[in-house]
Amino acid sequence: MLEKVVHTKQAFTEELQKAATLQDLEQTRIKYLARSGEIAALFEGMKSAAPAEKPALGKTLNELRQYAQAQFDEKKLLLEQSAKPKEVPFDLTLPGRSKPIGTKHPVTQVMEEIKRIFRSMGFSVENGPEIESDYYNFEALNFAPDHPARDMQDTIFIADKILLRTHTSPVQIRVMEKQKPPVRAIMPGWAYRNEAVSARSLVAFHQIEGLYVDEGVTFSELKGTLVAFAKQFYGSSIKYRFRPSFFPFTEPSAEMDITCYLCNGKGCRICKHSGWLEVLGSGMVHPHVFQAVGYDAEKYTGYAFGMGIERTALLRYGIDDIRILYENDVRFLKQF
Ligand code: PHE
Repeated sequence: MLEKVVHTKQAFTEELQKAATLQDLEQTRIKYLARSGEIAALFEGMKSAAPAEKPALGKTLNELRQYAQAQFDEKKLLLEQSAKPKEVPFDLTLPGRSKPIGTKHPVTQVMEEIKRIFRSMGFSVENGPEIESDYYNFEALNFAPDHPARDMQDTIFIADKILLRTHTSPVQIRVMEKQKPPVRAIMPGWAYRNEAVSARSLVAFHQIEGLYVDEGVTFSELKGTLVAFAKQFYGSSIKYRFRPSFFPFTEPSAEMDITCYLCNGKGCRICKHSGWLEVLGSGMVHPHVFQAVGYDAEKYTGYAFGMGIERTALLRYGIDDIRILYENDVRFLKQF
């Protein structure tokens, strides 16, 4: 009888080990642990054993049943766990999550494009300080002592005769002071004006200045260069015109207009019903400016021009409010 018990334990253990699925396990349970199973049969067999052996035999059989039940429970748990579908299957072929990549600000893009065009025409790029003296911003540029731009109302002063430059033209003076002709440079940067912010003007904005000085530079070269620029930048089919204008540091002076991008010259809100949009100021360098930097005004002539970058960006992209450029709204910025 004891031999039988040992044999049953062995057989059960082996079968349990082999059970690979819950169905296999159930078979094993029925075979050994069910009411009509082998262990129950052993208990049944105990009845015919000698009375003296019964207590020990009973104890052994109880241990066997406990052992079998415990082993069965453990294995069942194991199989149930491995039978469960894996949480989230990890698909190695899925593309990674991409990080949003920023784009260049439209003002930066316009700036880079303008620089590229003028570089290709032989202009170098120069820089100057944003905090300027009255001398560089006004005096050397032939502004009259009582010129309205020199007023606190229009210019942001930092101290007596120290101010935030109101245009990039003072860089012309700085470039000519350190360099003899020929000079052919563009000068990009911030400029500041004490103005009410509106759909058309900001307190801080960018300009690009241009300067070309040499012997025999003519007004037709000014026109030729600016027209070549405008055709590259705005497209070869644009119409343009030059209008006489006034700047203290150029004589003669002219402003360049192109046909309105919105109404194509018919007249609309953006162009104030004129059909034209002003894109830059320009002119032949005034002899007084040459005198201020020690250039011989009899020997040299030159042209200068300046344009607002934000305004240029509005024209380029058909935006009707300059303020949106600096609201940093991603929905706006990501269109560029
Ligand atoms: N500095 C002028 C402005 O801010 C533009 C300009 C530059 C005009 C150079 C003529 C020559 O309006």
